[in-house]
Formats: sequence, structure tokens, C-alpha cells
Amino acid sequence: MNSDIEKASQLVAAASSIVAFTGAGISAESGIPTYRGAGGLWTEYDPAKYANIDYFLADPAYYWRFFKEVRYPALIAAKPNRAHLAIAELEAKGQLRAVITQNIDGLHGEAGSKNIIELHGNTRKIGCLDCDADYGITEVYDRLEQALPPPCPSCGGRLKPRVVFFGESLPAGAMENAALAASECDLLLVVGSTLEVYPAASLPGIAKQNGANVIIVNVGQTALDHLADIRIDAKAGEVLSQITGS
Ligand code: APR
Ligand code: ZN
Repeated sequence: MNSDIEKASQLVAAASSIVAFTGAGISAESGIPTYRGAGGLWTEYDPAKYANIDYFLADPAYYWRFFKEVRYPALIAAKPNRAHLAIAELEAKGQLRAVITQNIDGLHGEAGSKNIIELHGNTRKIGCLDCDADYGITEVYDRLEQALPPPCPSCGGRLKPRVVFFGESLPAGAMENAALAASECDLLLVVGSTLEVYPAASLPGIAKQNGANVIIVNVGQTALDHLADIRIDAKAGEVLSQITGS
């Protein structure tokens, strides 16, 4: 094992109140494309259109075509990978307090994690902007054959995934809970994020200020590498298995 992996394993073994903070990179090995970095979504789809609330309201069909052709197929095929499972295992062993994720794929829940803070929502949940009814992702997908964008089955209104688009605020309380968890942890394990999007990217600084160790596992550099006590530039699946002994 290389020395950084060795040192990270020791920090994990000694920690009793770990918080994991994850981004799209943790789901890359599950087949879900990242936003930035090689082959990221943003290289094909324009975030000013695809994930912006004003554009969505003006032209919902653009989003729902992307959902039908890209988002849904990738999501349905995706299974939690070794990194998701390693985090769930740390929680089951009582060492990990929470996983804070920027991801909307729901894979931490599928892996068995319980205390999950989904800062940007969860695309497996679809809601109606007009009557607030909730629907599952597959029942909405099935409706796309008849109509795109899909009308709300109960009021005919506008359906939208329960995720945070650019221009929208985070779910009430999510960032507060995440900041509290980051301020109380003794180790922040950052996995698969460029750490470029705020307020989520303020979490490593909060943990550091409160005396926690920070480990960053990411393929390629992040905006906050200077904050890391240990920085591992490698794929999450392999590394998380090694440093958690799972
Ligand atoms: N293991 C670890 N890291 C990986 C892997 C892997 N197997 N594959 C890719 N990466 C890295 C990429 O190189 C990139 O640096 O994961 C990082 C993912 O960064 P982003 O695509 O920027 O994703 P994220 O940081 O989660 O984006 C934050 O931006 O677009 C918004 O709301 C969206 O939640 C998202 C937010
Ligand atoms: Zn409705």
C-alpha cells in the first residue's frame, strides 16, 4: 500500500465521528457521468439550459428529452459501487455519523447508508410544481411516450424532479445540517468532487476550522486540495475499499 493510503487508513481507523462528503466522482464507477472532468456531462449538455430553473420553466421539453435519453437510462442501470458500500459499512460500524452528498442519484441510500444529507435533492423523486404531488421516477418515465413534457397525473400541472437546479435554493435545512455535521466531525472524507460549487464547497473549510482531519480522494485536482491533510488522486472504488478495510 502506498504511504498516503497507509496514512489515510490510519486516520480512518482512529476516527470515531467521520463525515463523508461526496460528489459525482463517487458514482462514476457506477456508470453515472460526472459534470466536469474527462467526459463530464457539461461537455455535452449546456448547464445554462439543462440544469437552470429559468430555462426549465421556459422550455421544460429540453430537460425531459435529456431525462429520457440520458439521465433515466444511466440512473436505472446504476448500482452502488465499492465506494458507496465502504461508506455505508463505516456507518454500520458506528464510525461514520453522516454522508453529505451533492449527488442526486440516490446511490448512497441504495448502498445502505442511513443518515444521508442530499444537498441537491434526489432525482428518483419527481414532484408537481402546481399541486406538490409526489411521483416515482419510473411512473413518470413511462408517461413520456404519451407526452413530453409529462403533465401531472392529478392536476395536469408541471412535473419537475426534486433536485436543485441552478437558480434554486437548497432544500430547507440541508446546508445547516451539513455544516453542523462538518463542524462536529473528527475526519471529513471528501470523495469525487471538484469542490467548485458553493455553498457545498464550504464544508471542508468548516471541518478544518473545527480541528478535523480532511482526506480528499479525487481523480484530478480539486479547488481545495490545499486544505487536505491527505490527498489521493485515484479512483474512489479502489481507494475507499483500501482505506476503510472493507
Ligand atoms: N473516482 C474519484 N473521482 C472521480 C472518478 C472516480 N472514479 N471519476 C471522476 N472523478 C472526479 C472527476 O475528475 C471530477 O474532478 O470526480 C470529480 C467530479 O467533479 P464534478 O463533475 O464537478 O462533480 P461535483 O463536484 O459533484 O459537482 C458539484 O455541480 O453541476 C453541479 O449540482 C451539480 O452536484 C453537482 C455540483
Ligand atoms: Zn399536480
